[in-house]
Amino acid sequence: MHVNDDGTTTLGVGLISVGWMGQLHTRAYTNLRFAYPDLGVRPRLVHAADPAEARAREAVEVLGYDRASADYREVLDDPEVDVVSICAPNFLHAEIGIAAARAGKHFWIEKPVGRGADETRAVSDAVDAAGVVTSIGFNYRHAPAVEYLRDLIASGKLGRITNVRGHMFADYSSDPRGALSWRFVRELAGSGVLGDLMGHLVDLVQYTLGPVAEVSAVTSTVYTERPELPMGTGTHFALVEDGEMKPVENEDYAALLVRFRDDAVAAGAVGTLEASRVAVGPRASYGIEIYGTNGSAHWDFERLNELHLSGGLGEADQGYRRVMARHGMGDFARFQPGAGTSMGYDDLKVIEARKFLLAVVGREEHNSNLRDALSANEVVSAAERSAEQRMWERVPAVTGTTSAGAASSARSAESSAG
Ligand SMILES: NC(=O)c1ccc[n+]([C@@H]2O[C@H](COP(=O)([O-])OP(=O)(O)OC[C@H]3O[C@@H](n4cnc5c(N)ncnc54)[C@H](O)[C@@H]3O)[C@@H](O)[C@H]2O)c1
Repeated sequence: MHVNDDGTTTLGVGLISVGWMGQLHTRAYTNLRFAYPDLGVRPRLVHAADPAEARAREAVEVLGYDRASADYREVLDDPEVDVVSICAPNFLHAEIGIAAARAGKHFWIEKPVGRGADETRAVSDAVDAAGVVTSIGFNYRHAPAVEYLRDLIASGKLGRITNVRGHMFADYSSDPRGALSWRFVRELAGSGVLGDLMGHLVDLVQYTLGPVAEVSAVTSTVYTERPELPMGTGTHFALVEDGEMKPVENEDYAALLVRFRDDAVAAGAVGTLEASRVAVGPRASYGIEIYGTNGSAHWDFERLNELHLSGGLGEADQGYRRVMARHGMGDFARFQPGAGTSMGYDDLKVIEARKFLLAVVGREEHNSNLRDALSANEVVSAAERSAEQRMWERVPAVTGTTSAGAASSARSAESSAG
């Protein structure tokens, strides 16, 4: 960390894994200065690591890192690296997250962190012991329409929240020739769509409505084998012709019934959450519909810049109206001059980079953290147990999250426990 003569702070950035997310984190650091010229914090791309030689080379030649290594430990050992983006496949998250914490590096890690709640708890413990700042790749919470929705719910304008319906329907593996990437192998990924997409949905719901108390789940695997894709080549969107068929070891689809905790903003509410990686039709339809006694709202990532609202129109004229993201909603004004001009997925990561780096220098309160990842993971792990045992499962409470309504109760839970 270097404080410059003009009072700004330069933070040296390390990147672990140069796949889709590694490249996106890098674009976010690079674009930060255009959206937030007044941020007072400047990332400098120092050191990237990826064992795939072509990707390590790309990190220097295309992305602009000063140097690259095959081994992530060299990034963590680099004294010029202050903050690290951990964008490795899931099986490496716990090992690298714990090593980063022990090396005293603040880190921005991709979801789902652990392959299960136990691994995520181990990372969270290491983070607490080291006192480093963390941020999680829960990008959907930064959409301006979602930030606005969170405020609407908290203000009570939708009335008492009665129920939520959420879905994350992707088609990235809807073709049976869709590659068997690391995402389909239990040892490498943990759960399937539960960890990959349901974790995002759980975070979105917990961020806007509050913590989930219990779940009942069902899962299914639609395609039981797929052609293999070697690690470090292509993406999980790739189609493989004539590849060697290997078994799919985790679920393609999951559905959860949920009840919210008493300290949630949506206390007393219930809901249904579904995720699929084999949907035909929706491409990346990631949405939440929230119903309250005074009105309802829905948002879908495929229409990132729109929020649909009902209520307040009088009995005869009920129905949804479309509201475009605009100045005053989240960070919209940093990206576009006026409503109707769209923000995109990459912009959400720029906002995430802002929150992470400000948290590192002690200036951001609503940054997601390891406790949010653990909380989402506890829901996912409870869902896995529920699906296996065909029973409702309680979700262990996690303190210190940024879930809506949970912060004050988290503090009181800690003080009564102490
Ligand atoms: N937030 C989001 O919207 C979002 C979207 C996609 C992926 N993700 C998450 O990001 C993470 C990475 O996913 P991806 O799609 O970028 O994967 P990817 O397959 O595109 O890239 C993974 C990279 O990790 C590298 N790698 C393999 N072994 C390594 C090692 N030992 N050390 C360092 N690097 C190693 C590979 O060579 C590859 O370049 C996953 O945890 C995934 O769940 C999040």
